Amino acid sequence: MTTSYTARDTTRGTAGATVLDVRDLRVTFGPGLDAVDGLTLSARRGETVAVVGESGCGKTLSALALAGLLPEGATVTGSAVLDGHQLVGRGERQWRALRGSKVGMIFQDAATALNPLMSVGAQIEEVMAIHGTYRRAARRARAVELLASVGVPDAETRARSHPHQLSGGMRQRVMIAMALAGSPDLVVADEPTTALDVTVQAQVLALLRESTRDAAVLFITHDMGVVAEIADRVVVMYAGSVVEAGPLDEVLERPHHPYTAALLASVPDPDAPRAGELPTIPGRVPPLGERGSGCPFRDRCPKARERCAERPPLSELTPGGSAAACWYPGHTGAPERAEAPGRATAPGTTGAGPGPDGDPATPTTPHEEGTS
Ligand SMILES: Nc1ncnc2c1ncn2[C@@H]1O[C@H](COP(=O)(O)OP(=O)(O)OP(=O)(O)O)[C@@H](O)[C@H]1O
Ligand code: SF4
Ligand SMILES: [Mg+2]
Repeated sequence: MTTSYTARDTTRGTAGATVLDVRDLRVTFGPGLDAVDGLTLSARRGETVAVVGESGCGKTLSALALAGLLPEGATVTGSAVLDGHQLVGRGERQWRALRGSKVGMIFQDAATALNPLMSVGAQIEEVMAIHGTYRRAARRARAVELLASVGVPDAETRARSHPHQLSGGMRQRVMIAMALAGSPDLVVADEPTTALDVTVQAQVLALLRESTRDAAVLFITHDMGVVAEIADRVVVMYAGSVVEAGPLDEVLERPHHPYTAALLASVPDPDAPRAGELPTIPGRVPPLGERGSGCPFRDRCPKARERCAERPPLSELTPGGSAAACWYPGHTGAPERAEAPGRATAPGTTGAGPGPDGDPATPTTPHEEGTS
């Protein structure tokens, strides 16, 4: 079943200069264990970039690498420049100077991310104290102001509450306030609304968009409905690397990579209550240590052919900046890329998924595919 998504028709105004520039970022746990395998993306001030993919694709480790919070045993290489600061290769002391003031992090589970022993106001004040953004006397007032700005009612009183005294939605608002307390250039939000019910989720998404106008936002999710709500641009990750990237409307309406098309097609209904589970695409993401050298999606791909034993590069496909890592991208409106011998389909056919009968060799019609 295919669901059509309507991208938001408003953006948050004009996105500013590039704030984050990530190139070939790798997070590895040892030889052949690259959980993030060459992540390249950028984000501009005022822009929300959604990073989407199934469980195990490397979304969280990418986020943690950008916040200097990788688990023990992980090694990071490549480049990630945030507002002129190289994030790769920093020690913990150097990270402390940046975290909060440059990068604010919002986690999925506020209950465990917040300190249960401190009032929420004190935790927000602590972020300001670390970065010296406000004098002591001004911090309390600013913490209350921040709580009020993220929609916490009676913020003065709530600032004295401990996390367990607040609802899940309120705790998530507190985390957003904490992430914004240091006025960061980059906000990394890892599944920040997954644990919330639908109504609260919508409120928190709207709030996040509203309150991060001056920052670049990396919003991690596996939910295409949330992507349609929040993103300006979309980066689709599969097995540790980017398989598709582009502006929201292009990715939702004209996906080029079979994995993106499958993600979109397997979500039953964007208006239905979220099941909280990943879309079901037959097969599974290959675990670390079982990822070969060819296209990582080929075991699940209805279009896989001989050439897919070779890894496709991420290549730009549209004037709008959409790119995909696939030898047979759909929706290019142009003939497929130069073909290796042994090709199974007719020249000029493009397809973002299997043919009507599910046969990978069955060309899809231009009507089904659409063109860009
Ligand atoms: N500390 C660790 N040691 C070894 N492997 C790890 C560790 N943390 C994560 N991994 C592996 O790295 C891969 C990517 O994990 P990551 O948590 O980034 O995925 P994800 O895309 O965020 O998934 P989810 O949607 O489930 O949160 C997975 O295969 C995971 O098993
Ligand atoms: S067609 Fe080939 S290169 Fe493209 S996603 Fe499928 S397996 Fe990968
Ligand atoms: Mg994760």
